[in-house]
Amino acid sequence: MGVDHLQPGEARQIDYHPPMNVALATPMFILAGALFVLFVGRTLIRLYHRRRLREILRTDKQGRFKRRSAISTSLYKHVFHAPLFSIRHSRYLKLGNNIHMGILPLRFEAALLAVYIAINIVFFFVMVDWWKDWDEVIFEFQYSAGSMAVLNLPGLVLAAGRNNPLVPLLGIKFDCFNLMHRWVGRTIIFSALVHMIAAVRMKVFEQGGLAAATLLIWNTKFFICGLVAIFAFTAILFQSLSPVRHAFYEAFLHSHIALAIMAFVGLWYHLEGMSHQNVMLVTVVLWGFDRATRLACVIWRNIGTRCSKATVEMLPGDVARVNVTVARPWRFKAGQYAYLYMPSVGLWTSHPFSVAWTSKDGTSVLDKDATNSSNDSLDRAVGGSQETTVSFLVKGRDGLTSKLVRKAGNSPERTFNAITLAEGPYGGLESLDSYGSVLLVAGGIGITHPIAYLLEIVNGFASRSTAVRRVTLVWVVRSLDHLSWIQPWMVSLFSHPALQGPNVPKQESYFELPELALSIQIYLSNRDSSPEDFSPESPWAISAPTGVAISINTGRPSFRDTLDVEMAHQVGAMAVSVCGPGEMGDDVRQVVRAKQGNKKVDFYEETFSW
Ligand SMILES: Cc1cc2nc3c(=O)[nH]c(=O)nc-3n(C[C@H](O)[C@H](O)[C@H](O)COP(=O)(O)OP(=O)(O)OC[C@H]3O[C@@H](n4cnc5c(N)ncnc54)[C@H](O)[C@@H]3O)c2cc1C
Ligand SMILES: NC(=O)c1ccc[n+]([C@@H]2O[C@H](COP(=O)([O-])OP(=O)(O)OC[C@H]3O[C@@H](n4cnc5c(N)ncnc54)[C@H](OP(=O)(O)O)[C@@H]3O)[C@@H](O)[C@H]2O)c1
Repeated sequence: MGVDHLQPGEARQIDYHPPMNVALATPMFILAGALFVLFVGRTLIRLYHRRRLREILRTDKQGRFKRRSAISTSLYKHVFHAPLFSIRHSRYLKLGNNIHMGILPLRFEAALLAVYIAINIVFFFVMVDWWKDWDEVIFEFQYSAGSMAVLNLPGLVLAAGRNNPLVPLLGIKFDCFNLMHRWVGRTIIFSALVHMIAAVRMKVFEQGGLAAATLLIWNTKFFICGLVAIFAFTAILFQSLSPVRHAFYEAFLHSHIALAIMAFVGLWYHLEGMSHQNVMLVTVVLWGFDRATRLACVIWRNIGTRCSKATVEMLPGDVARVNVTVARPWRFKAGQYAYLYMPSVGLWTSHPFSVAWTSKDGTSVLDKDATNSSNDSLDRAVGGSQETTVSFLVKGRDGLTSKLVRKAGNSPERTFNAITLAEGPYGGLESLDSYGSVLLVAGGIGITHPIAYLLEIVNGFASRSTAVRRVTLVWVVRSLDHLSWIQPWMVSLFSHPALQGPNVPKQESYFELPELALSIQIYLSNRDSSPEDFSPESPWAISAPTGVAISINTGRPSFRDTLDVEMAHQVGAMAVSVCGPGEMGDDVRQVVRAKQGNKKVDFYEETFSW
């Protein structure tokens, strides 16, 4: 087929590069086609959910949405939610106790990766005219490999960006793009190394020996720039391995960016005068777009008539509650997260945290008309007076988070104030509004995710914009003290009029009994903590309306039994959402897959696994 537009009979010139054969970009076109198919699929699912919600709100009936077709059940069970092998997905693979080997992708993700790598490899080979002279074959092979490396660069940068437009368009989470970023990167490095080896082999042949070839390479800007790029890419290959990445995250991130810049600069000059330089330009523009959007977002959200600031309050269990008063709020959605910058603790570094709660002027947002929040940005822009506080729970781990928790613990009254910038919001791709039943499962600090959904559901129920009629929260914690993490928010939630109705056992006809059935099951996994220590005088117990069932149990829950009970009382379609340690995510996934039958139960996992 040929890799470039060398005319028949035209001799190849050493320093001239004919334009690339566009067919070399075929893998990219195939990939773009696959993304388009995913976009269409995702749009259809979203439209279906919207139609289902509209119909439920119109007819007050959701019994028919309980059922799922056999094909859809199989796809859910064996394709979309299946781990690569049997159970393991989010639970980290570890060597010994501390060496972090990453996670196993889902079956669907692994299939996408395999197809992506396969089409790249196929095009390596089919573009080369294998029946030509050996020299020409080697030239075409190195050209093909080099082109593959360059053509994959825009995808590499896009997948790494926080503002990747494909995330909202395809509804595919950043975690998945992060996985793609790593594999696209490995493909690029592999192609670049093949390109270099073939190019050196060619020069040795042309110059009549290794010494002459080496002399030429070290005295030619074109080759030196290529070598700089190869060196930087190879360094990235090693510094981004899971054990290094997880053990020294900040050092990894900073050196990763420095090496990427070095690779791009080297490549830019290596590709001077070639059509491939345009691909580099696209890559740099995509990167610049992400960085500029991040900067603009930080400035817009946090710098108004005053700067965003936070109160950090120490809580039991090495957790800090961070209440950020943002200069310009956004329209909050459950499942969103933001990157927090706290210069006095972490200089310029930023870390992602789920938005757990929002309130205005110290009053919970849910006490106000839910629709007001859409006008918040405008209010602030025109000088409106309401202050919006966005709350996060941060668990002390290694770097910034452990410094933050230590600083709060050492401060007078275990509280301090600091300038804090929030970049976001990101995420919040999944709405649970069209489900009749919702089971929220959390482990430890993973409660930040479901608490935001509880707020959204109660708000939605009050404004009659959600189909949810039955919500169960299962939260596994190590100590009763940890209930204080969300205590003020639960007290606020319990006082909502939507939860004041009688707790009648709910069967089929939900809208004839239009109450929201909320139950909360706390599990104390550490045997040192006992349900008997739960005081009837505690704010949780005092403020809970009679209709809300709260149970405190010992040990870990049986997710199988919990799901059995929930499915027995299922109203319409059911969503099961889990946020907690990877092991918990895997267990809940396994149970939901095992229960897939003719009842519709969808699974959503939010587990920190980058
Ligand atoms: C979407 C999302 C929501 C989260 N929500 C919460 C929450 O509500 N509460 C909570 O306590 N924790 C949450 N986390 C986890 C939290 O981000 C990490 O615990 C924190 O970044 C660790 O930082 P560190 O400085 O203490 O540790 P480091 O030593 O810097 O890192 C420890 C590990 O945290 C991860 N990490 C660190 N920085 C980043 C970063 N900028 N981007 C991605 N991963 C990073 C890396 O895997 C690293 O190995 C969430 C994570 C994600 C991805
Ligand atoms: N949006 C997000 O992605 C997001 C937001 C916040 C937090 N997170 C993640 O959530 C996780 C929770 O953090 P953590 O440090 O607070 O967790 P943790 O302390 O390790 O565990 C919390 C609780 O979960 C229990 N648990 C663990 N595995 C379980 C299983 N398979 N079945 C039942 N219970 C189980 C633990 O029980 P034992 O005592 O028996 O171990 C413990 O009580 C972290 O990985 C964090 O990064 C993610």
